Amino acid sequence: MRILGLETSCDDTGVAMYDSTEGLLAHRLYAQTALHADYGGVVPELASRDHIRKTLPLIRAILKAARTQPQKIDGIAYTAGPGLAGALLVGAALGRSLAFAWNVPAVAIHHMEGHLLSPMLEPDPLAFPFLALLVSGGHTLLADVRGLGDYRILGESLDDAVGEAFDKTAKLLGLGYPGGPAIEQAAQQGVPGRFHFPRPMTDRPGLDFSFSGLKTAVARVANNSPDDQGTADMARAFQEAVIETLVIKSRRALEQTGHTRLVAAGGVSANRVLRARLADMTRSLGAKVFYPRPEFCTDNGAMIAYAGYLRLRAGHQEPRGFAVRPRWRIEELDAIKS
Ligand code: KG4
Ligand code: ZN
Repeated sequence: MRILGLETSCDDTGVAMYDSTEGLLAHRLYAQTALHADYGGVVPELASRDHIRKTLPLIRAILKAARTQPQKIDGIAYTAGPGLAGALLVGAALGRSLAFAWNVPAVAIHHMEGHLLSPMLEPDPLAFPFLALLVSGGHTLLADVRGLGDYRILGESLDDAVGEAFDKTAKLLGLGYPGGPAIEQAAQQGVPGRFHFPRPMTDRPGLDFSFSGLKTAVARVANNSPDDQGTADMARAFQEAVIETLVIKSRRALEQTGHTRLVAAGGVSANRVLRARLADMTRSLGAKVFYPRPEFCTDNGAMIAYAGYLRLRAGHQEPRGFAVRPRWRIEELDAIKS
């Protein structure tokens, strides 16, 4: 089975071709980072317009790179939500129309399901069930993953998502956008222990998160225009606070559920310190952590093509019409019997 995957939910245009026997045949990403950089965040209308410009040329490039004629494609998967309405509509309209023209099934993918399944693209195979820690610019959640489409949220952020906290804190510290990689880099020069920020909600039971207070705590000390070293020290302390919080809650969730496999995915899971700490924590519990390769932690078409393959294989497909769902809880998906 050969699936074309389209991801246009936010500021990255991702296109990929996945083959069930040969694996990932080709993937391309066009990141709009430069377009939005001046605004310090994603401007939805600009994002939609750029997806319109980039998606078709990327599809052509993927067909060529994967040496695939449209007749050899068995289905098209597109991200239908959650995300920016206009941006989602570009991928959904294009994906649904191409599927109609090529007479193949189309399948609408939940963006976070794409992230959640992305470690399955790696050589070390991972099977259901597992615990998932999904950390991106829009979401922070711990989910009990029992099978395809069968997800129960155990904890989530009550305010800012982790990636959002990285982005806002980076802006505050004058480190640029996107904030995650900028903070990770600055933190390498930071002296440990110069600042200490709270580990929100770790002192009480439960698996929910709250990150907006952390940003405020940084703002309070960043007030008196720090030098480069001071900024690096704050970046380090912020990153430590976030990572320790994520590790504590993930550990708690593993202990509560009895899962021995943890998936960490979404943009923030590209963070090398987080990856190392989760590896240490899972090892100490006799469990194992699985990640996507760093380039597939952030948004990409490969995870959508792969999720599309699993769903099409299970007989899922969309009717002729299509819709997008800018707000869409992952628990609303139906379990797929394999
Ligand atoms: O999954 P993603 O590409 O898009 C969403 O679905 O939101 O995640 C983007 C988020 C941004 O907030 C970005 O700052 C964060 O992931 N991020 C990181 C790192 N790389 C990206 N956060 C921490 N450390 C990183 N290395
Ligand atoms: Zn994402």
